[in-house]
Amino acid sequence: MNHKGLGLIIVLIIAVTVAFAGCTSSDDTPAKPQVNVSEKPVYIVGIDGDYAPYAFIDSDGNAQGFDVESVKWIAENQGFEVKIQPMAWDSIIPSLQNNKIDMVYSGMTITPERKEVVDFSIPYWVVNQSVAVHEDSGYTFDDFKNGTLVIGAQSGTTGQIWVEKNLIETGLMPKENLKATYPNFPLVAEDLKIQRIDAAIYDKPPMLKAIAGKPIVIVGEINTGEEYGVAVRKGDTELLNTMNAGITTLMADPYWEELKTKYEMA
Ligand code: ARG
Repeated sequence: MNHKGLGLIIVLIIAVTVAFAGCTSSDDTPAKPQVNVSEKPVYIVGIDGDYAPYAFIDSDGNAQGFDVESVKWIAENQGFEVKIQPMAWDSIIPSLQNNKIDMVYSGMTITPERKEVVDFSIPYWVVNQSVAVHEDSGYTFDDFKNGTLVIGAQSGTTGQIWVEKNLIETGLMPKENLKATYPNFPLVAEDLKIQRIDAAIYDKPPMLKAIAGKPIVIVGEINTGEEYGVAVRKGDTELLNTMNAGITTLMADPYWEELKTKYEMA
């Protein structure tokens, strides 16, 4: 073979190699949502299973609640399937980032800090923080605001952050007085019931549910006016647009009022 022929073969080999190398790049593209037989995408929804009335596990082990029924309705309306995944609240954002879930629909407040790491839907609910004490203690809302009580909060919540910003960072309360290692709020309510802590702070609707039937009373409300949104992975605009469309449609549908009545949230 002359030099020209050899050169041509080498050029061909390189061209073929490059062409096939191009094919492997498809492995790097993001995984498509799981597709079932009906060809609908399946999205995994992360919830805290101890967050009545928004998300909780009933006595039969089924996920229930205002948020759970909302996302099921939205799925039907927008043409996707859902798998509800209960998990620890303080690892719910990392789980979203690590692709273990596709969204958080569990009473998550839209905050500037969280917006740095996830994208939020339009708001669908507004709540305030509430403060509760044991009914025998005689503690008041002023005792709470003066920083003289031992306060319990669920780990990684806006209630914990409120105490840090307004009582600890201002020097009103020593940081040891905030017990915010509780993985869920029912455990905070249990500790308040046996007076291992003096007060508890939490979003008002789940506070009301958690203290029902216990010797615990709400002594004050903090007007945080915080808005709940659905969190999706940063840049997941397809799912974000779907959820925004679904929430808008749901909130204009009579089913929204039915849900509010069913979960006593009017
Ligand atoms: N709204 C508060 C927050 O976003 C409390 C949420 C707690 N939600 C839950 N599913 N445990 O921090």
